[in-house]
Amino acid sequence: MGNVPAHSEREAYIESLFSAIADKYDRMNNILSLSRHRAWRRFAVSKSALKPGDCALDCCCGTGDFAFELSRIVGDQGYVVGVDFSEAMIELAEKKAVRLRTRDINFITANACELPFADDSFDCVSVGFGVRNLADIDAGLAEMSRVLKPGGRLVCLETSEVRSKLLRLPWKLYFHVLTPYAALVMGARKWAYEYLPHSAKWFLSREEMARKFSKCGLVEITISDLMFGAVCVHIGTKVG
Ligand SMILES: C[S@@+](CC[C@H](N)C(=O)[O-])C[C@H]1O[C@@H](n2cnc3c(N)ncnc32)[C@H](O)[C@@H]1O
Repeated sequence: MGNVPAHSEREAYIESLFSAIADKYDRMNNILSLSRHRAWRRFAVSKSALKPGDCALDCCCGTGDFAFELSRIVGDQGYVVGVDFSEAMIELAEKKAVRLRTRDINFITANACELPFADDSFDCVSVGFGVRNLADIDAGLAEMSRVLKPGGRLVCLETSEVRSKLLRLPWKLYFHVLTPYAALVMGARKWAYEYLPHSAKWFLSREEMARKFSKCGLVEITISDLMFGAVCVHIGTKVG
């Protein structure tokens, strides 16, 4: 694979990578998650304590699927904002919103590490498969916590390590070996899908992620494993 650049250039690299695969992103998501990604988001949102009329932010929103799930809960009286630094992703999310006739979501091009919102703005902040890609995870999580209202929840869906030793090897083969070839067959950029398992390999453990939540002032942290732990949901509540 192409070398993953040093921290200083990482942000530009990640932005260009996701912009390059934006048009194939949804289809690849279906393949990689064995079509489970919608159920995972629904589960994560069910833990968010969101209610009709609330306001929610989805960071690193990509093509918007998490934001659509949040919007289903907050309804017409509430609102949802989705942010992503890839304009190509934001354009696709906006087109999808038109197709789904969802009017209460505002998609914005912005960096999750410098969120353009006041402190204590949202009842819930979600981030799906985004934290792993942040150039500065501490800064991103601190920003997400800053814009949460006291008592609001941060909901994070991320890849993690499969718990069962028996399943670890088959999962690694699927994720590390088959993924780039699936991308090639689908006409997506193979190099980009070589980055994906690479980034997951070096990512935080579920316990390290929980410690980062706690460092940002989040409490009552819970961790739920999905798909034998290959995917993990962390929830934290901002101190009221
Ligand atoms: C793996 S995709 C996840 C998309 C979506 N959340 C989902 O669940 O399918 C990661 C997204 O994070 C975005 N991203 C990465 N770093 C970001 C940052 N610092 N600020 C905003 N968006 C970022 C990328 O552009 C990409 O769309």
